[in-house]
Amino acid sequence: MEARRNLYLGAALAQLVLVLAAAMAMGREEEDTDKGFNLFFQSNREEVQDVPITFDPPLPSWLAGTLVRNGLGLFENGDRSFLHAFDGFAKLSSWRFHGNGSASFSTRFLGSSFFNDSMAGDTIAPYLLFQGPQPPFNFVERFRALMHGIDNMNVNVYRFPGTDGGHDYVALSDYWKAYQFSPHDLSTGASVTGTLHGGEGGMKNAGFLELLSSAHPLPEAGTKHHLTFLSSVSLFPLVKNRMQLVRIKSTQEREVVASWPVDSVPYMHSFSVTETHALLLAHPFYVNVMCMVYEATPFNCLDWQHDAPSALYAVELKTGKVTELSMQNVFTMHHVNAYNLDVDGNRIVMDISAYPNPNFVGSLSLSVLRDPAARDSFPAHAQLQRYEIDLGAGTVQRVDLAPPTPAFVEFLDMPTMNEGHRSRSYCFVYGLVLKTDNVTLSRVAIVKRDVCGQGRDAAWIVPHHYPVEPLFVPRPGGVAEDDGVVLVPMIDGPSKESYMAVLDARNLSVLSTASLPTLVPYSLHGRFFDEVI
Ligand SMILES: *[C@@H]1O[C@H](CO)[C@@H](O)[C@H](O)[C@H]1NC(C)=O
Ligand SMILES: *[C@@H]1O[C@H](CO)[C@@H](O)[C@H](O)[C@H]1NC(C)=O
Ligand SMILES: *[C@@H]1O[C@H](CO)[C@@H](O)[C@H](O)[C@H]1NC(C)=O
Ligand SMILES: *[C@@H]1O[C@H](CO)[C@@H](O)[C@H](O)[C@H]1NC(C)=O
Ligand SMILES: [Fe+2]
Repeated sequence: MEARRNLYLGAALAQLVLVLAAAMAMGREEEDTDKGFNLFFQSNREEVQDVPITFDPPLPSWLAGTLVRNGLGLFENGDRSFLHAFDGFAKLSSWRFHGNGSASFSTRFLGSSFFNDSMAGDTIAPYLLFQGPQPPFNFVERFRALMHGIDNMNVNVYRFPGTDGGHDYVALSDYWKAYQFSPHDLSTGASVTGTLHGGEGGMKNAGFLELLSSAHPLPEAGTKHHLTFLSSVSLFPLVKNRMQLVRIKSTQEREVVASWPVDSVPYMHSFSVTETHALLLAHPFYVNVMCMVYEATPFNCLDWQHDAPSALYAVELKTGKVTELSMQNVFTMHHVNAYNLDVDGNRIVMDISAYPNPNFVGSLSLSVLRDPAARDSFPAHAQLQRYEIDLGAGTVQRVDLAPPTPAFVEFLDMPTMNEGHRSRSYCFVYGLVLKTDNVTLSRVAIVKRDVCGQGRDAAWIVPHHYPVEPLFVPRPGGVAEDDGVVLVPMIDGPSKESYMAVLDARNLSVLSTASLPTLVPYSLHGRFFDEVI
């Protein structure tokens, strides 16, 4: 009896060991396919200043200027952590190319009030967050968060004309506020909320809560001005909410181009501009104002009306005339570009990275992004879509683009282009495609899409190497639209290091790489400033 019991016990133990070993092997396998991907969403508190980096082989000497990128640096502090990727503390990174083949790297947290208060209190201070922290803000903290608004400008950087004839550099999110920073040492300056003049702005702004703007301002063709939008919530029950197209003349000086009432305020992240018109795609993803007041978390307070059409507002830049059109229901984070088909802009081409709905925004929670099984199970493909707008006929029609090779190239988001072709007819879009094998989210490709249909598409992909948004830098004197390089910071998963890759924009082959002195977690957007050397 005794012997038999021992046998059973032995067999049971052996089985347990086998099951454990199998589970561990599965765990390891999972880790192998996504090796190092989680470094994108892991805090890095280290800050460095002007550390020389060495490109091998040496860089082309024409590459002169500074790439600044904005993104996420810290996902918890003290007793609290963030739940959503959109909430990570803003951290700027810069790559200075001196124009003599040498380059240096810096990275520094954005010294916002939110960051400073959080560090001082060794916590996540009560400011408006996309999803809120864990443990959550209490009632009093939620109220303070609403009063503070969003202060964590972690999405993009941009350059506006300064008042002294120079330039101002700002860190942006989808909020009306911005922070100035120095592109030389990445130190943080004053916050700005430019005052509005002219049009129906000025005094009439009283009674509105200036809420949402764009992290993607655009230049106004042929001027030194830039354009953005501002969506405001009415504080009075009988007055409608409002959308405005705003001309940014300098960081402080802004004027209203057009102003129109809307029933609900849509969440929009970007827009597009032709030589004559701005195009705002107000898909039915609405801010639920009462929910915001009670919960103070946009994540829970955005309502998608899946059976409603999208409104498309075309604003004539010269006159401020607004034409409202209706189009098929799509969700877009990123417009690519738009241009006129005739001189007056009556017929317009608009290219966007579109999704059937905004569901994936919910999937960008840190718990999902950090878990291979969870992140692999949400649909992650955008689609580059072209629409033709006829303002005279009042129609918006989908136009098919020639299918690219490889086929996954059409699923790009984070679109960028040769800015010299902005608002004009163009051929090349650079971007990222997630989940290129339809299985693994972290199988990310850098792609180039030829929207002129001449088959000049390209893709770069290396297993376990993880790129972020690719930025095109033109070669001075170059004529071809794709004569230049594409700058892409990457994570090399197996070696757990960040590096900068310089790609040939013609075929996305790697020209040169340089190791970075510290890890760069996920960065969203950046700009190349050729005047900062
Ligand atoms: C390149 O220029 C930078 C900035 O002017 C300077 O610090 C660096 O020493 C130069 N490097 C070489 C190799 O000349
Ligand atoms: C945050 O602190 C830094 C460093 O002390 C400072 O430069 C910056 O101005 C502060 N930010 C604000 C908004 O006060
Ligand atoms: C991958 O998914 C896309 C849709 O996102 C689909 O069009 C394509 O056919 C799929 N490819 C394969 C090989 O299943
Ligand atoms: C990419 O293009 C460059 C020239 O523009 C060429 O030297 C290189 O061989 C090409 N690489 C590939 C992989 O086609
Ligand atoms: Fe964006």
